[in-house]
Amino acid sequence: MRNKITVVGGGNVGASCAINLAMKEIGDVVLVDIVEGVPVGKGLDMLQTGPIEGYDSRVIGANDYGPTENSDVVVITAGLARKPGMSRDDLLLANYEVIKNVTEQVAKHSPNAILVLVTNPLDAMCWVAHQVSKFPKHRVVGMAGVLDTARFRAFIAAELNVSVENVTAVVLGGHGDTMVPVVRLSSVSGIPLTELMDKATLDKLVDRTRNGGAEIVKYLKTGSAYYAPAAAAAEMVESILKDKKKVLPCATYLEGEYGIHGLFVGVPVKLGAKGIEKIYEIKLNDEEKAMLAKSAAAVQELIDVMKKKM
Ligand SMILES: NC(=O)c1ccc[n+]([C@@H]2O[C@H](COP(=O)([O-])OP(=O)(O)OC[C@H]3O[C@@H](n4cnc5c(N)ncnc54)[C@H](O)[C@@H]3O)[C@@H](O)[C@H]2O)c1
Repeated sequence: MRNKITVVGGGNVGASCAINLAMKEIGDVVLVDIVEGVPVGKGLDMLQTGPIEGYDSRVIGANDYGPTENSDVVVITAGLARKPGMSRDDLLLANYEVIKNVTEQVAKHSPNAILVLVTNPLDAMCWVAHQVSKFPKHRVVGMAGVLDTARFRAFIAAELNVSVENVTAVVLGGHGDTMVPVVRLSSVSGIPLTELMDKATLDKLVDRTRNGGAEIVKYLKTGSAYYAPAAAAAEMVESILKDKKKVLPCATYLEGEYGIHGLFVGVPVKLGAKGIEKIYEIKLNDEEKAMLAKSAAAVQELIDVMKKKM
């Protein structure tokens, strides 16, 4: 039996994620979007890429959830981007409606699926999907840390002129400017970063990582990053469907871990066939604790705005 993976939202991130998943041959892929015809066309295009790239994954696109029935994993990338004149809260409430509607459909058609959220604001949208689906917490996970660490790793590797494969980095917290890179635990093949570069250089790379998304938006002007975000979501899906049990930084529902209650926040987790199979609680120093608390407070603020409208 092949796995079935649904990707909801066939825009930049969703479509790139779909082809990434097809190339990994870890399941058949269904791409869903509300724009009439577009996911069907993109699905056909990806199906026809198979003979060239040598993959047998079947890819189809749809405007409804019929073909998604009984998916094993559902990646949710549907949503709006911030438009001029729109506040953060306006975007929050608009995407709240999108994620609510999408999750209702997904939970109805694929009641046993593992949900991988991508839509921003990420940690808040995970909370919405968890509330609406009523899925157990180990089946709702958010993609942000894999992307944030990939950015950090890429900048470190470029700075030191070493392979990205040798660079490991730890990032905690909410997605965005309040994320907490734990520099002390980041290394190049076990050599602490702090022994490889001075503080000023490290601070510069941390800062660039925090603003990694904005740096790309500045160049693209009409959209945001999608190759790395799509690859990050696909890595998470692969770890789940192959039961690889990779330890990755993901947004997960915390119930007391790190002193955080009832919020999705990014921490290292083990991702396997059951979804989130373990949450790792790292001992943090006072400065890191304070940064994480600040990051969690920023997530809580968004939840409070949504609760008023519910
Ligand atoms: N978590 C992260 O690290 C991360 C990284 C990059 C992007 N994102 C977020 O991912 C989301 C998608 O980004 P993108 O660049 O692909 O945007 P995009 O505008 O290219 O694509 C979004 C797609 O969602 C579709 N959509 C809207 N409402 C829908 C609904 N109810 N059902 C199905 N589809 C619907 C739209 O038609 C569009 O095709 C955004 O919220 C973005 O901020 C998150």
